[in-house]
Amino acid sequence: MDISSVLQGGYHHPLARKWQAQRQLTKSMLMYPIFITDDPDACVSISSLPGQSRWGVNKLEAFLGPLVKKGLQSVILFGVPLKCTKDGRGTPADDPSGPVILAIQKIRQLFPTVYIACDVCLCEYTDHGHCGLLNNDGTINNTPSAARIAEVAVNYAKAGAHCVAPSDMMDGRIKAIKRGLIDAGLGNKCTLMSYSAKFASALYGPFREAAGSAPSHGDRKCYQLPPSGKGLARRAIQRDTAEGADIIMVKPALPYLDIIGDAAELAKDLPIACYQVSGEFAMIHAGANAGVYDLRTMAFETVDSMLRAGATLILTYFTPEFLDWLEA
Ligand code: PBG
Ligand code: ZN
Repeated sequence: MDISSVLQGGYHHPLARKWQAQRQLTKSMLMYPIFITDDPDACVSISSLPGQSRWGVNKLEAFLGPLVKKGLQSVILFGVPLKCTKDGRGTPADDPSGPVILAIQKIRQLFPTVYIACDVCLCEYTDHGHCGLLNNDGTINNTPSAARIAEVAVNYAKAGAHCVAPSDMMDGRIKAIKRGLIDAGLGNKCTLMSYSAKFASALYGPFREAAGSAPSHGDRKCYQLPPSGKGLARRAIQRDTAEGADIIMVKPALPYLDIIGDAAELAKDLPIACYQVSGEFAMIHAGANAGVYDLRTMAFETVDSMLRAGATLILTYFTPEFLDWLEA
């Protein structure tokens, strides 16, 4: 064989195979999405998300304690209010006695080393289930939506969140949040992670069931990006970088690896996050249960593809498993 034809010598050994990666998964790259409900003693498993539950604040110590021991370093909180009164502006989102603000305070007190991010959106708290405020004709009223999202984000930051992560997709919300954080004296105490390239995906189904956040009418296609919209995603990434985002996120992850690559190129001085969403997690479990592949092998293959595309931070429901698997 010709000298230039032989590659296998470079990866015949397991250790040499590891060196082929530009970036390897570490525990610090994992952010665990958790659902917090307003029954303080709840631990209700979510049927569409294997192994995941809705938690009450009184259960967080027993739930997170063992994970923190295994090396859990960050979480992202989603509020699931079941008892509150929802309205047009999502008033319960930043209720000081609501589940998210109570959970921030509780986790800070219980686990001072854990980095707490908060998803910021209104859909869990509006009576219509959309992510912003609506005009009378049912369309999104963007400017007051961005202002309301900023208000909620600042209130989470004031409660002690280390990071606010708006997932609403209203135009101009990154600028509005950054301004709000600075004016509240929190500009240098809270990270702003933008769900910049968030696509209108079929993969959010289990989450909407878990969070009770499906829209009561219509869909989210006028604010979440069309799946074929590579140019729009690139514009959103550049806009959010210019508006003051500290981290750029792409969501979902696996069907959008090219967009992760674009984000790594366009926002090359920022951490790049991706969200392996509920439907991706459910799909990997379903395939493994059907005997299509081994769960662990597939979970690593998907996450390695995200790292290869350029991600430096991964939001995944597999976090507890990875904490175990990374030990072995
Ligand atoms: C709410 C929100 C959604 C997700 C994160 N924040 C659902 C949606 O936009 O409908 C999806 C997360 C997942 O599927 O795991 N804006
Ligand atoms: Zn929303």
